[in-house]
Amino acid sequence: MADPAPHPFASRTDVLEPFLAMEVMERAFAMEQAGISVSHLEVGEPDFAAPEAAVSACAQALRDGETHYSDSRGLIELRTAIANDVETRFQVSIDPDRVMVTSGTSPAMLLVFSLLIEQGDEIVLGAPCYPCYPNFIRYCGGVPVFVETAAEDAYLLDPEAVRRAITPRTRAILIGSPANPTGAIQPRKVVEALSELGLPLISDEIYDGLVYGDAAVTSALEFDAEAYVLDGFSKRYAMTGFRLGWVIAPQRAMRRIQTMQQNLFISASRFVQHAGIAALESGAADVANMRTVYQGRRDFLAAGLRRLGFGLPTLPEGAFYLFADASRFGVDSKQLASEILERAHVGVCPGIDFGRAGEGKLRFCYAVSESTLETALDQLERVLPQLEAEAAGALETAGSRT
Ligand SMILES: Cc1ncc(COP(=O)(O)O)c(C=O)c1O
Repeated sequence: MADPAPHPFASRTDVLEPFLAMEVMERAFAMEQAGISVSHLEVGEPDFAAPEAAVSACAQALRDGETHYSDSRGLIELRTAIANDVETRFQVSIDPDRVMVTSGTSPAMLLVFSLLIEQGDEIVLGAPCYPCYPNFIRYCGGVPVFVETAAEDAYLLDPEAVRRAITPRTRAILIGSPANPTGAIQPRKVVEALSELGLPLISDEIYDGLVYGDAAVTSALEFDAEAYVLDGFSKRYAMTGFRLGWVIAPQRAMRRIQTMQQNLFISASRFVQHAGIAALESGAADVANMRTVYQGRRDFLAAGLRRLGFGLPTLPEGAFYLFADASRFGVDSKQLASEILERAHVGVCPGIDFGRAGEGKLRFCYAVSESTLETALDQLERVLPQLEAEAAGALETAGSRT
């Protein structure tokens, strides 16, 4: 009998691009299996242990038999703790009924985009941006409309440019502040101006709390009571593996979000929710310590990268990434990241992962120890002159052909 035709896959997944930071990490793991030691600066994964209070509360909850489903919206104690935290940090009072607890910020994103986007609807967002934003938008049938931001302007969004990008199909404006990959913080006046454009704001605040010097973050809720805020424990509390996040949404959206949550996820893990309560109640000192350490690492890495010839016109005020111009070493950032991994054994994320506006750049994550940063800089110093010579040679050849 002839082989049957292979079964088809749904076209829904065609629109998803690979997450290049993960691809670099997976190649680095393969190299490590072959005995090569790699410095991992490619993924946004804090190296700190989770706050002890969170670990103990989670372990205790497991022993206490908190091993079943919870209310799909999350434990009321956690939703109340999240609402209290918002009030303390931003002086905005929200009803815990407007909080949906999710298994990380990523499922929260899926819930919000699923709620707001019809086929062909547009979401306006700044670029470069977190790669999963456009992927989620496209997956839900939407169209990401990018407004470019520049290193020279500290990657600030121009509300006027956002206004010009709005069409009758625009359903929301998406902001991430502090941002991945740039670390940029959108100032109050920008968030306020964006909130006045007549569309809901979707505000990814997962890096709030991780800010340096005098920098302060603004929650979209301060200006837009109807904003959709995405947040979670992964970054601020170094709890990536706990998979715990939340969305704050307008009251009238909650029933629909709850229905999606019930069907798609049932609930976030119950014992992990106890870790979240403890982190919010007792994790402030851990966050303050991480912030101090990150700031030292940022300054150390920035000085090293500048010395090696990377372009960094401004220092980011938040998150834990440096997004540096690497074009003198190669304009194709995917190719360059691959060469750096293979030759210097340093994992970095290609700028193209964050959209066309990121081409020619590399993202370095400094949520790793200073000794890893030191090794990475030494390893880079060894191979960059060669890469620079090759890039110059390639340019010359291209020039002589034209
Ligand atoms: C801007 C941004 N939002 C959301 C996420 C996803 O976070 P979570 O681990 O909570 O799903 C990340 C992870 O890197 C991120 O950088």
